[in-house]
Amino acid sequence: GFSWKLADHPKLPKGKTVAVVVLDGWGEAKPDQYNCIHVAETPTMDSLKKGDPDKWRLVKAHGSAVGLPTEDDMGNSEVGHNALGAGRIFAQGAKLVDLALESGKIYDGEGFKYISECFEKGTLHLIGLLSDGGVHSRLDQLLLLLKGSSEHGAKRIRVHILTDGRDVLDGSSVGFVETLENYLAELRGKGVDAQIASGGGRMYVTMDRYENDWEVVKRGWDAQVLGEAPFKFRNAVEAVKQLRQAPKASDQYLPPFVIADESGKPVGPIVDGDAVVTINFRADRMVMVAKAFEYKDFDKFDRVRVPKIRYAGMLQYDGELKLPSHYLVSPPEIDRTSGEYLVHNGIRTFACSETVKFGHVTFFWNGNRSGYFNEELEEYVEIPSDSGITFNVQPKMKALEIGEKVRDAILSGKFDQVRVNIPNGDMVGHTGDIEATVVACKAADEAVKMILDAIEQVGGIYVVTADHGNAEDMVKRNKTGQPLLDKGGKIQILTSHTCQPVPIAIGGPGLAPGCRFRRDIPTGGLANVAATVMNLHGFEAPSDYEPSLVEVVDI
Ligand code: 3PG
Ligand code: CO
Repeated sequence: GFSWKLADHPKLPKGKTVAVVVLDGWGEAKPDQYNCIHVAETPTMDSLKKGDPDKWRLVKAHGSAVGLPTEDDMGNSEVGHNALGAGRIFAQGAKLVDLALESGKIYDGEGFKYISECFEKGTLHLIGLLSDGGVHSRLDQLLLLLKGSSEHGAKRIRVHILTDGRDVLDGSSVGFVETLENYLAELRGKGVDAQIASGGGRMYVTMDRYENDWEVVKRGWDAQVLGEAPFKFRNAVEAVKQLRQAPKASDQYLPPFVIADESGKPVGPIVDGDAVVTINFRADRMVMVAKAFEYKDFDKFDRVRVPKIRYAGMLQYDGELKLPSHYLVSPPEIDRTSGEYLVHNGIRTFACSETVKFGHVTFFWNGNRSGYFNEELEEYVEIPSDSGITFNVQPKMKALEIGEKVRDAILSGKFDQVRVNIPNGDMVGHTGDIEATVVACKAADEAVKMILDAIEQVGGIYVVTADHGNAEDMVKRNKTGQPLLDKGGKIQILTSHTCQPVPIAIGGPGLAPGCRFRRDIPTGGLANVAATVMNLHGFEAPSDYEPSLVEVVDI
């Protein structure tokens, strides 16, 4: 029968403190002026790379290596941390939604049946990120869902859009809204009353995460549910074009707006009897809005009016909280994660990041589950992030504070594993501010140094890696790698992640002599890291985990 007990590793000892450091958005790319990691002073990461070639390598962090539909899909933190923590590759939300839409099974599921009971009298509201980024949602999936819903009886549909510019180029929102508008016009031609009802930039409206700033979710609620926003337009393309005119405006941070009819009345507030679907498949930035729709006793902001609706997520976003209780597509069943195994084998674990990435080393790491496996053995520490700012104005973020907390946890001797996410390369990389991203990378490197120094002191082991690329490439490039220019001759800034591989390094005084990276797993990816870490704790990994990257040779 099944057992949580892990076998002893034949050669690697137990009892070493293992630091697992994840640099968010830290890929490996050719050195040039748009590679902020290359430009920044990063002596610690440089020394790992230049050190023992058997203790530094690259691993895949995008596409099928992390369960995404195609090799053109860049990596992201959800799938990256899922793979790091679970040690296996699961078909991820993007893929599962594709399959459900393709086969039509989505319309036979419990979630769709549940919402479709509102179609006779009520409106179907679709809320979500409007882009082809493939990180949180995809426009083609939205269009298919619109088509399928109307074919399955939805007569009145309202779409509440969130503009992107973070997983895709800034400014691309206009084209996505046009595509959606054209499709909605087609539906209207077929007699479906379908329109965009509200909108706003994803980082300012609705898509906050890890309870960093409830105001973001409130702005969305006000526009989507109450039909109230500081800006009113007759048409969404107009809205986005005009709001982008403001100085420093960007797709990510557009203010909320509602679409109103000729008399000034909002066209699509959410009212009793309506159905609501949040169309994002990715969990982190949907959990808060799901709580606002689903929880009776909700006190994070005044919802003013709480319509009696039927609400479903594209996926279930939190497996532990069962949130939301209705969903259109079943999420990947990420079970038996390494964190759960390790606590069952007595490993005392400390996990830490600042708010904006806190759930990455807890929630995502543990297979999209909130909470502890074992409160006695685990401690998760969240350093509060600055909220209400874009991180290019504070590129050091809380790297130093994270480094200190992790150092103290290592030196305390109370933990066998400390696991940390250092957010700077990613969070600042997403702003598209190259100078600030250089500062960010330096700060991240300094935090790594603090952690490695502490590991040195206690005779421990370190594993330093990343979840996906971002800061190593800040421009859009053509096929030969040359930066692309826009119509005005300016380089096109890349705010998104990349398809680059990421580094992984092992070392520290506790690393057994002869322990090194195997040379026979050239295609290794993030999912190989969990078994690696289990080995470094002195255990064999479960047999269905992706193979460990390390071996022990006689020296
Ligand atoms: C975000 O949610 O901030 C981006 O879409 C993806 O970034 P992450 O995968 O690094 O969190
Ligand atoms: Co990111």
